[in-house]
Amino acid sequence: MAKTVRLGLLGLGTVGSGLVEIVNKSAATIEAKSGVRLEIVRALVRSQGKARPLPPGQVTLNPDDVLCDPAIDIVVEVIGGIEPAKSYILKALEAGKSVVTANKAVLATHGAEIFSKSTETGAQLGFEASVCGGIPLIRALSSGLIANDIDSLVGILNGTSNFILTRMYRDRLSYPEALKLAQERGLAEADPSFDVQGVDAAHKLIVLTELTFQTKATLDQLEREGIEQIEPIDIKVADEFGFVIKPVAVARREGDLLDLRVHPALVPFEHPLGPVSDEFNAVMVRGDAIGEMIFHGKGAGSLPTASAVMSDIVEIARNPGGGVIWNPAQSRRLAHIEGRSRYYLRLPIFDRPGLIGKIGTVLGDHGVSITHVTARLSPSPVHGPDAGVGALDQGPSPVHGGGVGVGASGQGPSPVHGGGVGVGASGQGPSPVHGGGVGVGAIGDTMLLTHEAKESQINRALAEIEAAGILAGPPVSLRILD
Ligand SMILES: NC(=O)c1ccc[n+]([C@@H]2O[C@H](COP(=O)([O-])OP(=O)(O)OC[C@H]3O[C@@H](n4cnc5c(N)ncnc54)[C@H](OP(=O)(O)O)[C@@H]3O)[C@@H](O)[C@H]2O)c1
Repeated sequence: MAKTVRLGLLGLGTVGSGLVEIVNKSAATIEAKSGVRLEIVRALVRSQGKARPLPPGQVTLNPDDVLCDPAIDIVVEVIGGIEPAKSYILKALEAGKSVVTANKAVLATHGAEIFSKSTETGAQLGFEASVCGGIPLIRALSSGLIANDIDSLVGILNGTSNFILTRMYRDRLSYPEALKLAQERGLAEADPSFDVQGVDAAHKLIVLTELTFQTKATLDQLEREGIEQIEPIDIKVADEFGFVIKPVAVARREGDLLDLRVHPALVPFEHPLGPVSDEFNAVMVRGDAIGEMIFHGKGAGSLPTASAVMSDIVEIARNPGGGVIWNPAQSRRLAHIEGRSRYYLRLPIFDRPGLIGKIGTVLGDHGVSITHVTARLSPSPVHGPDAGVGALDQGPSPVHGGGVGVGASGQGPSPVHGGGVGVGASGQGPSPVHGGGVGVGAIGDTMLLTHEAKESQINRALAEIEAAGILAGPPVSLRILD
């Protein structure tokens, strides 16, 4: 016999309306598959006068019509933000109603309080939709992969940033043009800061971290960098070198230490995250038993997100004593683990002879070796005799500093080593600057790829380069995700 579950919705926007659509379309199928009969009792909204997918008698402006109605079994919080969402969730749990939420912001900032209220009252909390929308990642991490000690999670958690970078790459749009397109498609808010500054991805990473590593984190404990500084030139040069730029989130464990980061990174074309485009999300999980596994799918949108909400509703209805395994212990220590990675650097330079050599020297002094170099001049390329600029594709040895001239060797086997001024570009090198010319007066960008280096080496070298007063603007440094 079917078990009837009565739902009260807090919010009837994108996700709430998607849930109504799924109930209208698929309730009979869900009942046939799960034995759970779904009934929407009422939905709370903020404003009157909007077209709603429910009859007017089922829509209310009074939260108590949902939170205090004894006929409602499960409260679905799809308002978003911190307040009043947090107070409503706590009130529902206190009343013994299970809660399903899609709200990563409230879980990332008040998860401990909300989970302890759930434990205290025995009312369940489902949050499958809070990370990666329609991808069933929370359940996979909390139960499907329970046998694993997870070493790392690496993913694209923010669909808006991924869409913007994808369109900058695919359609050669500028950042403002790609952002505008995302807004027109309903993928970015009028104020996109949470998405493009990495806050949304950081909230999701915090939720995943608590679940996977039993470790609490706050926003200010994460290293976080947005995508706003990415220029079309970065996208183009990365492409020429065989990379796409992706907004990644990384949780990496070493022993009891845990490093959490959200930042854009260069990803090789052949990397599993390379083809994850537009608003899609993906997460690579590495566990000691399963090895590497990747989850890929729609991380947002009305129906994908409502699909995840529905999975929680059915799970709670079928398994009232169950719920997601959530251990409030602080099992790991958050730390900046200084691994080594290759780096992409963009250095805006005043166009004076010898500057590229000086940059090479400083990097070399800090133990950072260059593998590739290219440059773009603004407003127009200058073909001159003064300094060499180019690419060192496939060269077996790095370029070492010391009055370095930087030349291009295409596929050539010999990189340029320090001393004097190297001149010239040739072969397949991606540089449009031929003959090594950097004319005085223009401003340009020099883009470098490095061999593996520590972040502290890169930072110290960049600080010294900046202090030398040879840069025309702040440098950009991006990790390469190998
Ligand atoms: N959209 C997605 O693709 C997506 C994906 C994953 C997770 N999520 C999460 O799902 C949640 C909902 O997102 P959404 O996109 O559906 O938001 P939305 O479209 O802005 O809808 C929010 C709904 O909540 C109502 N609401 C807002 N503030 C309220 C208040 N103070 N009192 C009562 N009702 C209030 C709004 O009422 P009105 O209709 O009257 O304005 C609206 O119906 C968020 O936590 C979001 O992070 C969304």
